[in-house]
Amino acid sequence: MFKRLKNCHNVPDMRDLARQRLPSPIFHYIDGAADDEITYRRNTSAFDDCDLVPNVLTGVEEVDMSVTVMGQKLDMPIYCAPTALQRLFHHEGERAVGRAATKYGTMFGVSSLATVTVEEIAKVAPGPKMFQFYFHKDRGLNDALMQRAKDANFNVLALTVDTITGGNRERDLHTGFTSPPKLTLNSIISFATHPMWAWNFYTKPKFDMPHLSGHVSEGTNLAVSVGDYFSTMLDQSMSWKDAEKLCRDWDGEFALKGIMSVEDAKRAVDIGCTGIMISNHGGRQLDGSRAPFDQLAEICDAVGDKIDVVCEGGIQRGTHVLKALSVGAKACSGGRMYLYALAAAGQAGVEKILGNFQSEIERDMKLMGITSLDQLNRDNLRWR
Ligand code: LAC
Repeated sequence: MFKRLKNCHNVPDMRDLARQRLPSPIFHYIDGAADDEITYRRNTSAFDDCDLVPNVLTGVEEVDMSVTVMGQKLDMPIYCAPTALQRLFHHEGERAVGRAATKYGTMFGVSSLATVTVEEIAKVAPGPKMFQFYFHKDRGLNDALMQRAKDANFNVLALTVDTITGGNRERDLHTGFTSPPKLTLNSIISFATHPMWAWNFYTKPKFDMPHLSGHVSEGTNLAVSVGDYFSTMLDQSMSWKDAEKLCRDWDGEFALKGIMSVEDAKRAVDIGCTGIMISNHGGRQLDGSRAPFDQLAEICDAVGDKIDVVCEGGIQRGTHVLKALSVGAKACSGGRMYLYALAAAGQAGVEKILGNFQSEIERDMKLMGITSLDQLNRDNLRWR
């Protein structure tokens, strides 16, 4: 059945509409993950192994779902994780996501591999913003990225630590997906059968990754897979020393994105980080890695009182957010959930999915018998 935005009531509905709208290599780039995609599936199904235990008769007319994470007051406990290449998914790209996040009072993460500049995003999205930093071999590029994010007054810097080499994304191997998209027989057929996407892609300003321009050609002038970009452009010698220096140089709210072990969470505290994202990069890197939600309790027990812990990955429902916050996360973040919506309908799509989360969280808080999120704790959870 053909879907329209008004029939999209949840993340899978948005995914269906995105699939309708996008040429298949682009859809599968968003939707796909590494190897057998076991971790990708587990990221969401992990939430099913844990049940909520509600209380009743507590008076819940007014609920407050705001949280403060890494110094940022957010009107809702889920924000848009940084993701790359957004103008490939919708011609407005990061502008659309930034405006929608601002409207809902939540944070917007912007990637080093974004397709709109941090300067422009700062203008269209005045709310809290995170810059996702990739540590390149090219030190001039690294310095330029940090300086631009500082000058554009981004509030948080998140260093990505789980892309030291490219994950094995077999769907991209099958479809031949590259950035920028290569014209092959298959992709031409796919573009021709999605004329609206092709019209926008080829008639709007040329695809670009403006933070990289002038430093590297890969990804913008030279078509490469994202896996190859990570493997060849990023610095595989990156160590705790580098992370500590970046944290010092940034001199503000600083997070490591892609922490999975208690040991690393403790080291993040030691080097001065103010946040960590428990994340396996949406299952796109190490397949067989544990799900963030499964790993959350031991990390919160070890460092939850010293650093803000964010649960990132697989979140599709308000109840997922409430479960993660009950365990001890300060907030949640998600990528695909809003990328499907962006591809489905641009800013209106992202607003719709954030609106869905907002109403689900409000309803679920009332049904749990709570009026603020700090009333959640592990007493209201049971593992099966
Ligand atoms: C990804 C990167 C770019 O494709 O975040 O997973």
